[in-house]
This record gives sequence, structure tokens and C-alpha cells, in this order.
Amino acid sequence: MLRDKLNFFATIYSAHKKIFAFVVIGSLICAGLGLLAPMLIRQLMDELLPHGMSAEMILSAGVLLALYAANYFLSRKIEVVGRGMGAKIEFTLREKLFRHLLRMGYSFYDNAQSGQLLSRLVNDIAEVGGLMFAIPHLLVTCLITLLGSVTLLFWLNWQLALVVTALLVLKTFSTIKLNGDMKQTFMRTRENTGDLSGQIAESLQGIRLVKTFNTEARELDKMRRAGEKLLAVQKKSFDTVGKLHGGIDFFSNVMNLAIIVLGGALISLGLMKISDLVAFLLYMMLCMRPVFQLMMLTEVYQRGMAGVERYRELMNLPESNELSAERVAELETAAAIEFSHVNFGYENSAPIFRDFNLSIAAGEHVGIVGMTGGGKTTLCELLLGMYDLDGGKISIDGRDIKTVKTDSLRREVGMIQQDTFLFSATVRDNIAYGREEATDEEIFNAAKLAEAHEFISELPNGYDTLVGERGVKLSGGQKQRLAIARMFLRDPKILILDEATSALDNETERQIQRAMQKLSENRTTITVAHRLATVRASNRILVLEHGNITEEGSHENLMARRGVYYKLSTAAA
Ligand SMILES: Nc1ncnc2c1ncn2[C@@H]1O[C@H](COP(=O)(O)OP(=O)(O)OP(=O)(O)O)[C@@H](O)[C@H]1O
Ligand SMILES: [Mg+2]
Repeated sequence: MLRDKLNFFATIYSAHKKIFAFVVIGSLICAGLGLLAPMLIRQLMDELLPHGMSAEMILSAGVLLALYAANYFLSRKIEVVGRGMGAKIEFTLREKLFRHLLRMGYSFYDNAQSGQLLSRLVNDIAEVGGLMFAIPHLLVTCLITLLGSVTLLFWLNWQLALVVTALLVLKTFSTIKLNGDMKQTFMRTRENTGDLSGQIAESLQGIRLVKTFNTEARELDKMRRAGEKLLAVQKKSFDTVGKLHGGIDFFSNVMNLAIIVLGGALISLGLMKISDLVAFLLYMMLCMRPVFQLMMLTEVYQRGMAGVERYRELMNLPESNELSAERVAELETAAAIEFSHVNFGYENSAPIFRDFNLSIAAGEHVGIVGMTGGGKTTLCELLLGMYDLDGGKISIDGRDIKTVKTDSLRREVGMIQQDTFLFSATVRDNIAYGREEATDEEIFNAAKLAEAHEFISELPNGYDTLVGERGVKLSGGQKQRLAIARMFLRDPKILILDEATSALDNETERQIQRAMQKLSENRTTITVAHRLATVRASNRILVLEHGNITEEGSHENLMARRGVYYKLSTAAA
């Protein structure tokens, strides 16, 4: 466990050896300079003060001032460079975690809460960055100052120093106890912060539903409950922090009082010089600060370590096998599709496909219809390799897709999803998504083929109009046409269209059908349809129910059969 942590820190710092060394050595020097000052003051009082103002006196004061100035510039530099290192580490960790998250598969996101992930990526890692500077800086400064000043206290007057040490030891024990409490509360604070962000993110993502159902009060209530939990945990942690911080002041006041009383007695007995008592008090103040800072450090440490734990928890989750070593093949051709003896069920739910078989010939246009929840979207996602099968295999032109490199697979198999997602970017960027190098010519052409050019030209800034969360909102039919344009640019060999369930007006529907027709020319195409008109022209139509193909044939055949398809189409008419 400890080794684990040490390894973690060693790996991180090894990327910043020079800065780390500078911070450690710089902190050593600063602490040393700090220790020097009271000695000089004592000397000043002993040797120069009794003789009144003199050149030597001014010189000593000058030296002292230079010392303070050197200390100031050095510690400033340490702050700048050291904090820079912490921020850089924060940046790197965040990048690593995000890269890891991007490599997680669909199944991870099925169960993940995006607010929680956001909180880990943003808040937790910020705490870790703070810790990364504090360790080489505060730890070194504190230890040197503490050890140095305690040694000098003994050298100045061992009796008084014994009293101080005894009190310090007492204080340390109580601090250790408080630290244990602190660690727990910080971990819980982090968890509750994550829950709260998750809650808020969810409410905001679902804001349209919230508004239409007029359930703002309910969402506020959920947020408040998460907030109250956090508040309760925070309150507990404040109590501990209060004990720590308040304890410091109280403790140093008691120390000062004790030393002045005892020191005064020693002076009156002629056992101690005034200059010694002054130096003693100065060193005592000096050694008080690191005690305080060490406590602060433990606070930063606990918070940072809670962040580290949560970071590593995520990093340790296995990535999807998208980059697995057995994926070596490239799809040179992609036309025929074969599902053979496929078994699949989502994690923790009943199987959807049991011994499922389906062959699609090269260039064939297959339509899939069926009641909702029948497994149509799942089937498409399996073909894209989004989930691992529980048995059987899916092949494209005879190649098991499990052995195909993910980028090759996703390039050759294009899917237009049931709900189109638009990024907060221009129309142009949204069409060119995944093909940033596309020329304007290609983009316009794709939009024309998708019958989207016309409405895009009517937008306030044409192709430069911002859409998505932060821009102009598009209708369902417009979004679908952008998705089709995207796919024209991408130009995959196999095309999957998971038709949106939203109803469209007749004109838009015709436009989309024409666009789809063009898009599917010369490609093997699977069309999942909610409007039967979409699949009428397919070579073959499948009715998928509960993971089984229950009817299969051309539109005319299926109509003649007067089965499920017939019922669906007469119900729609
Ligand atoms: N990510 C998921 N995790 C667990 N179960 C899921 C997941 N996605 C879908 N399911 C379940 O799998 C079944 C098939 O869902 P699927 O989305 O494939 O249906 P569909 O035929 O596309 O339906 P629709 O016509 O409504 O789009 C459903 O019972 C659904 O509840
Ligand atoms: Mg679906």
C-alpha cells in the first residue's frame, strides 16, 4: 500500500526531476536562512547594542536585511516554479484520465454518471496538483526549520527547551489523532461532492423534461438533499479543522506565556541573558510555524490523497478491448455481413439474442422493423463492435470483427444513430466531424446530397452558424439531414441507419428518404425503420421481436403473409 503510493509519486516526480530538485534545494536554503536570522539578532544585542549606534551595527542590520531579501526572492521563485510543476502535473493527470475515459466502451458509460466523472476530472485532480507542490516544498521547509530550531533551542537553554519539546510532543499526538478523523471526512466530502455534481448534471441534462413536466421543485429538492448530505459531512470536517487551527493559536500562546514566565525567573536568578531569551522566543516562533504548516500539509495531503485514490480507482478499470492486441486485421473490403450463433445480453440483464443468425449479402439493403425494445439498436451496435458477445461471432467479408482494428471497423461501418448529437460548433464543423481535413467543396457537396444545403443556406450565418448546446437549435429532421451529410463525407462501405422515432412532416420525410436512398447506393445497408415507408424499397425486410427474426421477405411478400408486418403497416396507415 505504502509502496504503491511511493511508486505513484516517484513516477510522477521523475518527469519533473529538475524542478523537483530546485524546489527541494531552494526550500532547504530558505529554511536555513530563516534559522540564521535570530542568531544574528542575538549577536547584535550582545555585542553591538551595548555600544550604541555604530557603523558595525548598521552593517549587521544591512546583512540581516539582505538575508531577508534573499529569502524573499528565493521563496517567490520556489512558489512560481513549484506551483507551475503542480499545475503541469494536474494537467497531465487530467489528460491521462480523460484519455482513459475515452477508451472505455459503451458498457462503462451505460452505468457511469457523467457528473461524477466530471467531478473527478475537474475537482479531484485539482487537489492532487496542490499536493504535488506541497510535498517537496512544505515538507522540506517544515522538517528543516523544526529540527534546526529545536536544536538551537537546546543549545540556547536546555531546561527551557525540554519544556518546549514536551509540549510539542503532546501537541503532535493530538494532531495525529485529529488527522485520522480528517482523512475520513475528506474522502466523504469528495464522494458527496461527486454525487451533488452528478445530481445537478442530470437535472440540467433533462431540463426539457423537467420543464414540460413542471417538476422544477422536485429537481431542486433532489439537489438540496444531495447538498444537505454534503453540508453535513462538511460540517463534521469543519469541526476537525477548527480543532486543528484553533488549537495552534491556543497552544502557541500557552507556550509563549510559559517561556516568558520561566525565562523571566531564570534571568532574575542570573542563569540566562536577555538576548538568549529573545533568541529563544524567536526560535520558538520559528518552530511553531512548521508545526502549523505540517498540519496544513496533512490537510492538503488527505485531500490530495483522496483525489489520488479516486483517480487510480478509475485508471484501474479495464479499458474496452478496442485497442486489444488481437485486433490486427484491416478491413480491405467490407460488404457481406454474417451474424452466426450470436449470444448477447447487457450486463446484469436477461439475454437479448440467443443463437441469433443473419446473413446479409454484399450490396444488399436490409430493412429491420419491429416493436420497440426488440433489439434493433443493439443489433447495430454489436455490428460496430461496441459490446463483447457472450458467444458466437459477427464477421464482415469472412473476418471476425473481434480481430479487426477498431479504427478500420469504425471507418468502414458507419452508423447514423437514433438521436443525432450536435457539438457546440458550426454547421460546417459538425458535418466534417471526424474528417476535419474535408474541403468546403466536399462539405457543400455532402450537404447537397443530404438535401440539407437549402436549409443551411437559410440559417443566419449559413455554414458558419453555431449549432448545438450553445448555438442555433435545429429541428429533428434538420439534425437527421446533418447526420446524413456527415455520413456522405465519411463514406463508409457498410451503412447503418437507426431511424429516429420522431415523426416528420411528409415533405421532410421524403427529403430524408431521397437522401438515404442516394447514400445507400452501392453500399450494404441496414435500415432500422419506425416509419415503414422507409424500408418499403429494401431488398429484404426483417421483423425483429425479442431478439428473434419472426418474419422475413420483401414488402409484397410480407404484406401477403398478413402477419406482424401487415399489422404494423395497416396500423400506421
Ligand atoms: N445500454 C443498455 N443496457 C442495458 N439494457 C439495454 C441497454 N440498451 C438497451 N437495453 C435493453 O435491451 C433491449 C433492446 O433494446 P434496443 O435499444 O436494442 O431496442 P430497439 O429495438 O432499438 O428499440 P426502439 O425501437 O425503441 O429503438 C431493451 O429491452 C432495452 O431495455
Ligand atoms: Mg432503437
